[in-house]
Amino acid sequence: MIAETIFFVYNLNMIVLSIETSCDDTGISIIKKASNKKKKSIDFNDFEILAESVSSQASLHSPYGGVFPSLAKREHQKNLVPLLVSCLKKSKLLKPNKKGFDIKKILKVKKLLEKNPELFESIKLVFEKYARPDINKIAVTTGPGLEPCLWTGINLGRALSMYWDIHLVSINHLEGHILSSWLTPIEKVEFPAIALVVSGGNTQLIQMQEIGKYKLIGETKDDAAGECFDKTARILGLGYPGGGAIRKEASKYKNDKFNISLPRPMIHEKNFDFSFSGLKTAVLYDFKKRTKKEQTSKEYIEEMCFKIEKAIIEVLIHKTIKAALNTKAKSILLGGGVSANKELIKEFKKQCKINKINFIYPNTKFTGDNASMIALTSLFSPNAKNITWQKIKANSNYKING
Ligand code: KG4
Repeated sequence: MIAETIFFVYNLNMIVLSIETSCDDTGISIIKKASNKKKKSIDFNDFEILAESVSSQASLHSPYGGVFPSLAKREHQKNLVPLLVSCLKKSKLLKPNKKGFDIKKILKVKKLLEKNPELFESIKLVFEKYARPDINKIAVTTGPGLEPCLWTGINLGRALSMYWDIHLVSINHLEGHILSSWLTPIEKVEFPAIALVVSGGNTQLIQMQEIGKYKLIGETKDDAAGECFDKTARILGLGYPGGGAIRKEASKYKNDKFNISLPRPMIHEKNFDFSFSGLKTAVLYDFKKRTKKEQTSKEYIEEMCFKIEKAIIEVLIHKTIKAALNTKAKSILLGGGVSANKELIKEFKKQCKINKINFIYPNTKFTGDNASMIALTSLFSPNAKNITWQKIKANSNYKING
């Protein structure tokens, strides 16, 4: 009887290890949840982040003005295992291996990681040194994202799942961004909602009936909003990533000296789609018609950054509010790297108040790519289903509809 009770209590805890490598951030996280029951809401008190770590490659990609996929893949290979070990250690899940190691399985892992030899060498040492940790599942981002990067994280997940015999789940990166607001305490979210995911690779408007039920209603036809920040920052010589750099310069703007005028692409079209490449071109044309002295002047950079930010924010907010009103949404949920933008948050708060819509946005700690949002999604979304390590694969175009 006692033994049974202990087993029952032990089984209540669900520990998930998550892996995020969709772009240029390597993320590992370990989250514990009090039970494996999926509810229709997420309560901050129902889970605990035991450990999380993100390694950013931004400075490495800076000279290229954007993410260089083969370099990103190489960095993921290098960073994944040290982050994994440090998170397991922090979660007190690292135990010495007293059983020796399974050579047959190691050979299987070697074959599995033949495209990631560096990853194989480091994970082999982990299998030799440490015992299977008390983890119930491994959640991996399978898309959307850069295919070589996604595969690096997936391959680590497959190797761990196969060697330690742990369930694997495939997670949509965008669903992670949508749920990222719940990683810190927030007010109760009322549904239906409209989610706006704005990052370097995606700009999507998603109708949300409840957690796990999504319908894509609009997306960018060309560049993503973050990409527009990055590309225009590059024109102005501000480095990568551009969003933060543009915000910094825009905050210093005082008044117009150059009368820069930028378009708001697709703002008045009936659909919920976006387009940002025309805005980038307009910035380039304006920049080219200036003298070298003007191009590098403090006033020009500040005014241009202010106008770029304003144009992007206006389009994002106009379309999102319109989508929310059209679908009678009670809440707007924001997610993705661009939601770190303070001006965007300020304007959204203002417009949501006017239109009586709840506005939910993530803590800046979780706006960029991170593995905690992936672990959280695997614990709370009905879309997170077990998949075998033989079947899991990257889907660089993974759509959110479901
Ligand atoms: O979600 P994220 O970390 O990566 C993916 O693209 O998946 O988003 C990165 C994007 C970059 O384009 C970066 O310029 C943008 O988020 N970003 C910002 C800010 N901080 C990062 N954009 C505007 N304002 C910011 N403060």
